[in-house]
Amino acid sequence: MSNTRSLRRTQFSCLECGTTAAKWVGRCDGCGAWNTIVEEPVSSSPLVASVAPSQRASAITAVSGLDAHPVPTGFAEFDRVMGGGLVPGSVTLIGGEPGVGKSTLLLQLLGGPARRGSTALYICAEESPQQVRRRAERVDALSESLFLAAETSLAHVLGHIDELSPAVVVVDSIQTVFDPELTSAPGSVAQVRQCAHRLVTIAKERDIAILLVGHVTKEGALAGPRVLEHVVDTVLSFEGDRHHSLRLLRASKHRFGATQEVGLFAMTEGGLEAVADPSEMFLADRRVGVAGSVIVPTIEGNRPLLVELQALVADSKLTNPRRSVTGVDPSRVGLILAVIERRLDIKVLALDVYAMAVGGARVTEPGADLGLALAVVSSLLDVEVPPGIVACGEVGLGGELRSVGGIERRLSEAARMGFSHALVPHSTPDLDVEIELVRVPTLAMAIGACNLVSRSETAAEMAGSSLE
Ligand code: TYD
Ligand code: MG
Repeated sequence: MSNTRSLRRTQFSCLECGTTAAKWVGRCDGCGAWNTIVEEPVSSSPLVASVAPSQRASAITAVSGLDAHPVPTGFAEFDRVMGGGLVPGSVTLIGGEPGVGKSTLLLQLLGGPARRGSTALYICAEESPQQVRRRAERVDALSESLFLAAETSLAHVLGHIDELSPAVVVVDSIQTVFDPELTSAPGSVAQVRQCAHRLVTIAKERDIAILLVGHVTKEGALAGPRVLEHVVDTVLSFEGDRHHSLRLLRASKHRFGATQEVGLFAMTEGGLEAVADPSEMFLADRRVGVAGSVIVPTIEGNRPLLVELQALVADSKLTNPRRSVTGVDPSRVGLILAVIERRLDIKVLALDVYAMAVGGARVTEPGADLGLALAVVSSLLDVEVPPGIVACGEVGLGGELRSVGGIERRLSEAARMGFSHALVPHSTPDLDVEIELVRVPTLAMAIGACNLVSRSETAAEMAGSSLE
C-alpha cells in the first residue's frame, strides 16, 4: 500500500466565489474575477459510514410551529431590520466597505444587551482593545458585561466563548480569524469557510447569537467564498457614502423574517444614530426655484422617503460628452437621455450631463425615471419645476409612463411633507391621499403639465429671441 499521507493534494479555488479549477488560471470561470485563484490543500477524509441517528426523524405535524424568538437589542433601527432583534443560536454576517461603520454599529449593538446584564463578547481581531475601548467611550457603550478579546486564533476565540458563556458574540472580522490546524493563510477560502462553520456550530449548540463582520471587495460583493452566505442565517449589508453621514442597513437574506426592512442611520460624533425622519433630512437643504431639481417619492425597503434629484446639462467640447452620475443608476440616465432626444426631439445627447441624488441618497429604482427626465429637461430649458410637485413613474422606451409599486405610500409621504401635486402615470388608480394627482400618459405630457417649455418660450420671447 502506498503511503497516501505523504501525498498532499492541493486544489485551486477562487477567493471570491469558491469555484474550483484544475490548474491555476488568471481569471475565475465562475465569477469572472481576475487573480483570485489560490492553491489550497484538499482535506482528504475517509468515506462516512452510516450510524444510528441520535434522534429519530419526526413527522412534520409533530414539529413545534413556534417561530424563532428574536430578542430585542434595544437598538431600534437594527431590530427593525432583523424583524425584532437577535435570535439566540443564529449567525449573522454583516458586510460593508472599510470605514463605513461596521465596528461602530456592532459595538453600539453589544452595548444594549450588556447594559441589561447579558454577557457580550467582542473579538477584535483587527484592532487593539485600547482602540475599541476608546470607540466604546465615544458611542457610550461601556459596560461591565461587555468583554473584549484581541484574538485571531479560532481555538482561542472558542476558549473565550467557553470561559464567558456569552449571550452575544461579535467577531470583527471573520477574514482575520484563522484555524491554526489548517495550513492555508488567514482570509483564504478554506480558512474563512472553516472558521465560519465552526462558529455556526457553536452558536447552534449553545444558543449564542453570533455576528460576523465580513469585508467587501471593490465591487461591493462580500469577500471570501459565497458559501459563507449560505452557512449563516442572516446576511446584512451596511452601506453609505463616506462623504455623507447617511448609512443604510439592509438584509439580503434572513431566515427568521422578511428582508424588506431598511435601517437608516446617521454617523455622528457620538456614533450611529437612528434617522427618524429621512425625508426631512434629505429635503433640509433644498433650495426651491432652482432649475434641474425634482423631488421624487421613492421606497427603500418598506419605507417611503422623499429624495431630491438634480441634473445639470452643459455644453460639451468632448466627442464623448460627459455623463457624471452620483446616487442614480447610470444606465437609466443613459436611457432617459436617449428617450428625451428621440421621442421629444430635444437635443441632449451631445451635451454634458451631470445627475445626482442629493444628500448621499441612492435611488436606482425605475420609479425615479420621470423625476430624472424632468430634472434634465428643466435644467436644459433653465426653467424650474413648480416647487409643490413630486414626480413618480417609470419611463418606457416609447416615452410612455408606467406605474410603479407602493404608489399610495409614496404619495402619502409626499403629502405629509407638504407637497400639493403629484405627477403620476395615467394608469394610477384613485388613491386615498391628500395630494392632487396629475395623471399623464407620456413624458412629453408630464413636461407640458409643468409648463416647462411654455415658460421657457415666454422667457425667450421676453429676452427678444426665439428658442431656435
Ligand atoms: P468603523 O466602525 O471603524 O468602520 P468599519 O469597521 O466599517 O471599517 O468606523 C469608521 C468611521 O466612522 C471612521 O472614519 C470614523 C467614523 N466615526 C464617526 O464619525 N463617529 C463615531 O462615533 C465613530 C466611532 C466613528
Ligand atoms: Mg472595523
